[in-house]
Amino acid sequence: ATKLVTDVLGNSYTSDEFTNITPSVIKKIGKKLHTKKNHPIGLINKQIQNFFYATYLRAGGNPIFSMYDNISPVVTLEQNFDNLLVPADHPSRNLTDSYYLNKTHMLRAHTTAHQRDLISSGLDSFLITGDVYRRDTVDATHYPVFHQLDGVRLFSKHQLFSKAKDIDKLNLFENGSYTELKQAEHSLEAALAVAAELKNSLQELAKALFGADIKYRWVEEQFPFTHPSWELEILYQDKWMEVLGCGVIKQEILKKAGAIDKVGWAFGMGLERLAMRLYDIPDIRLFWSEDTRFTSQFNVEDPSTQITFKPFSKHPPVVNDISFWIPENFHENDFYDIVRSVGGDLIENVELIDVFENKKKQKTSHCYRITYRHMERVLTLNEINTIHENIGAEAYKSLNVIIR
Ligand code: PHE
Repeated sequence: ATKLVTDVLGNSYTSDEFTNITPSVIKKIGKKLHTKKNHPIGLINKQIQNFFYATYLRAGGNPIFSMYDNISPVVTLEQNFDNLLVPADHPSRNLTDSYYLNKTHMLRAHTTAHQRDLISSGLDSFLITGDVYRRDTVDATHYPVFHQLDGVRLFSKHQLFSKAKDIDKLNLFENGSYTELKQAEHSLEAALAVAAELKNSLQELAKALFGADIKYRWVEEQFPFTHPSWELEILYQDKWMEVLGCGVIKQEILKKAGAIDKVGWAFGMGLERLAMRLYDIPDIRLFWSEDTRFTSQFNVEDPSTQITFKPFSKHPPVVNDISFWIPENFHENDFYDIVRSVGGDLIENVELIDVFENKKKQKTSHCYRITYRHMERVLTLNEINTIHENIGAEAYKSLNVIIR
């Protein structure tokens, strides 16, 4: 049966051909893990907030940055994409990648969705934290809901060049050309100064979180809303790990937001990934656990307390495969969502383990291995068989696959 409306946080959204939100995702909305005092996501959020509060002070001693952590995750497509100059044909707009309430509203796929509105409201230095939603594979490091923190800082000419000797000779803007180093309307000195300030702040943040001797590097990146853009990577257990994306804000965004005489930087980072490294948390589903063996380990007054998560005995998994012939317009993410909707947090992992082509009949079959595990108790084979059959039945019903 098709549902005509979806209710989220007290508002109703009329369904249409875009609607792809699932009940298991709706259940996560409003949990606000990032505002919890004794939760790893809340602790890391506080640590980053404290870093910006302490590092950037006005002459009078008040923090320059303000924090927005209570904005609804339901946004318009304009907020998530258009306001940030994401092109109409950009892959991130695909129905297979984001959760849509309908063709006008979606669950934000990044906290950058609020950047333009907050600048329009007159702010020039702020942090945004919130839950974000993406359709993705299912495993120990991917979950359809996670948390991000974005930061924005704008500068007037006098703020940006406050240490320069001959400020009258410097300009923020010029009628120049777009190069690797700058946007067409920025002067080279402005672009370089913003980039230097940005990189310096984020290096200091990485040191504050991971220790003063952390090794890091800057990797060139591309985002529709910044230029130039980078990713910051840190060396963690001998591997380079991406921790954030950032860059010089596209001047067109600032113009449209009414900040015509300013330039600025922006960054965005995922909090789960950081928290998993910082606290040694092995599985992303643990963030949603209400088991006190998890929550009690993060019960600290000072958010910068060093904590190493001590795993409690994992109950054994149950592994079960499912194979089916796929129809022409099959998308793996649609199947992952069904597995998640039917199996909830019992789903530890879903993996495509075999693709088989019947050349004669021109049919393709996929075999997925589903790993079930309960964080708090032993599963019975009987209950898993029922769930496994329901997954098959639901895939047959809504994806037109033929179970083998
Ligand atoms: N929104 C980007 C992401 O989700 C991160 C980002 C934010 C990059 C702001 C640049 C500037 O990955």
